[in-house]
Amino acid sequence: MESSAVAGSTFAVETVGLTKRYPMAWKRKILVALDHLDLQIKPGEVYGLLGPNGSGKSTTVKIITGLLEPSAGSVFFNGANIKHDLASYKRIVGYVPEEANLYPFLTGLEYLELIGRLRGMKGSIIARRTGEMLEIFSMTPHRHSTIGTYSKGMRQRILLIAALMHNPDLIIFDEPLSGLDVTSALIFRELVKALSRAGKSIFYCSHVLEVVERVCSHIIILQNGKQLAYGTVEDLKTFQQMPSLEAAFAHLVQERDAPASAAALVEAVSR
Ligand SMILES: Nc1ncnc2c1ncn2[C@@H]1O[C@H](COP(=O)(O)OP(=O)(O)O)[C@@H](O)[C@H]1O
Ligand SMILES: [Mg+2]
Repeated sequence: MESSAVAGSTFAVETVGLTKRYPMAWKRKILVALDHLDLQIKPGEVYGLLGPNGSGKSTTVKIITGLLEPSAGSVFFNGANIKHDLASYKRIVGYVPEEANLYPFLTGLEYLELIGRLRGMKGSIIARRTGEMLEIFSMTPHRHSTIGTYSKGMRQRILLIAALMHNPDLIIFDEPLSGLDVTSALIFRELVKALSRAGKSIFYCSHVLEVVERVCSHIIILQNGKQLAYGTVEDLKTFQQMPSLEAAFAHLVQERDAPASAAALVEAVSR
């Protein structure tokens, strides 16, 4: 049996030899989407998974959430293999997926209430937290409209609330800024910083270096499912030549109270 590489480790999450193979029946080949990936993240760290499309970022985080089984290797949370008690593990994980399947016929509020109930949260806590978080993300006026009528940015905000409302210890964001309007993106960045200060372990997938650079303490660069580089943001400054969309944001309106909104969000989920 595989065991955690660091006995009695303080790592919140550790992967050992994580490998994912997808059969490609039509080509009679196997695609190795993830090839023996080892990573470790401690509480309060923001771990950026960076790499071009198809490099294995989403596969990695789906395995870390417990949604996808690896072909080989293991995920440990606080030293225990997650597969031994997936149900308890999933309660401490918050995941914002790259592609959302939201029920278009539910209203935003109904969706959040459903997610809260599925997680076993008390009705009064669901009501308070959703109320506060909808307000922070300027979604209060839209809470009774059906999700089918929402813009991509509005759906993304609902997904963020759904992922955070149970106050998870481990939070996973897969390309969280895609489709997010500029104001929400600024709040979001501050939110990541505030969650990290609150001791959460955070995974952040992106194919845009500059965004990762601003919020992450550590970065792994993936290519074809393998680790190309790993280090702190400072260590990886040499990777600056990767493509950037960040300059576009610089011309856009600054949201002055983004840090305050982010602090309020963290406050809302921790009470
Ligand atoms: N369910 C799947 N079946 C087959 N191949 C897949 C599946 N999911 C992902 N892949 C392939 O695995 C590789 C890694 O994908 P992914 O983890 O989504 O990368 P990224 O998130 O970095 O863009 C890609 O080549 C992708 O086409
Ligand atoms: Mg992806």
